[in-house]
Amino acid sequence: MYPLQRLWHFPIDMWNRLPLRIDLPIPYLQIDVVFVNDPDQIKILREDPACGRMHQVPSGQQPGWAQYFFRGTRFHDVTHDDWFVAMEGQQGNTEYEQRREQIAACLKSEWYTSDDVSKVAELLKSGASDEALAEAMVPIINCRFLQGHTPIPGNIAQDAKRMLVSPVDILKPGVYEKAVAAGKTVIAFCTASGIIKGLKEVDVAHNIGAAANEVVKTLTILRNNAACEDLDELFTRSENTPTAAVPRVALAASKFGGLLSYPARPGKTVFFLNISKAAGMERSLFWTFGTGVPERSCPFKPFAMSFLKDVQHHIRPQAT
Ligand code: HEM
Repeated sequence: MYPLQRLWHFPIDMWNRLPLRIDLPIPYLQIDVVFVNDPDQIKILREDPACGRMHQVPSGQQPGWAQYFFRGTRFHDVTHDDWFVAMEGQQGNTEYEQRREQIAACLKSEWYTSDDVSKVAELLKSGASDEALAEAMVPIINCRFLQGHTPIPGNIAQDAKRMLVSPVDILKPGVYEKAVAAGKTVIAFCTASGIIKGLKEVDVAHNIGAAANEVVKTLTILRNNAACEDLDELFTRSENTPTAAVPRVALAASKFGGLLSYPARPGKTVFFLNISKAAGMERSLFWTFGTGVPERSCPFKPFAMSFLKDVQHHIRPQAT
């Protein structure tokens, strides 16, 4: 496809209400990105085996921009070339099943104490910073993934906060280098502390990062809506979903039933599924914590919603 043809598809795609595809023939970077906002279009991709998880393509064969970006995130551990379990394909991958089961089992068997709830509620009431909330939340959620429940120091929570959450962060001066260094520190901490059997360092590093970023975000939303009657409703509002979008990669030269006006490039075309918008449109927590269905949704969902409800009891304004 020549550059002019790529541009020509732009208005036609818009006219036909197809997802926005940005296809820039830049050497090495290989930018071919599709932004999918419509929940019905996300459902088509969700069910299509030609649309897969990032690590169904070997790290070195992914587009240049993706290799660069994910290196600065909690999803790819470059040192061991391991990917967080959500980025792994499921079909015929027994290791995926074991890792997911292990994380889910740890989250189910042990929740949190009433002291944990009071501590976080007090921090919220005193207007504590995101950094202070991260230092409190990271150990509550993550010591369970370390042998002997090793304590997690505040500097690890801070490093976890520095890892990239969006490709836009790459554009901010100095942020990328700090994110890569911080990711290495968190992985080294996991290795030195000894993670529980069946997991990889990147799984634990991801979970620490999710506590320091997304969980803290939910707590600050709760603080600003302490009187809210329905937390399920609150956390399905598009502006309140901590994860805006999830990535997928094309595994075949498909047009995905007409979603694309010309075929995807296997291993190179990356989709961003806007689950945040879908949550707002369909008002289901399975969009806040996944792609709209229980299958492969976040195993932290029950813990999160229970913890938020318990904290709310402490911070809800009293009726006069
Ligand atoms: C409020 C905080 C969180 C939100 C909003 C959230 C959201 C999500 C979303 C949207 C996915 C699906 C990703 C995809 O389809 O590509 C996911 C997957 C996952 N999350 Fe979370 N997450 C949160 C916190 C956590 C925490 C703290 C942990 C672990 C302690 C965790 C563990 C996982 C795991 C293991 C998966 C992979 C599930 C699978 O692929 O089978 N999440 N999460």
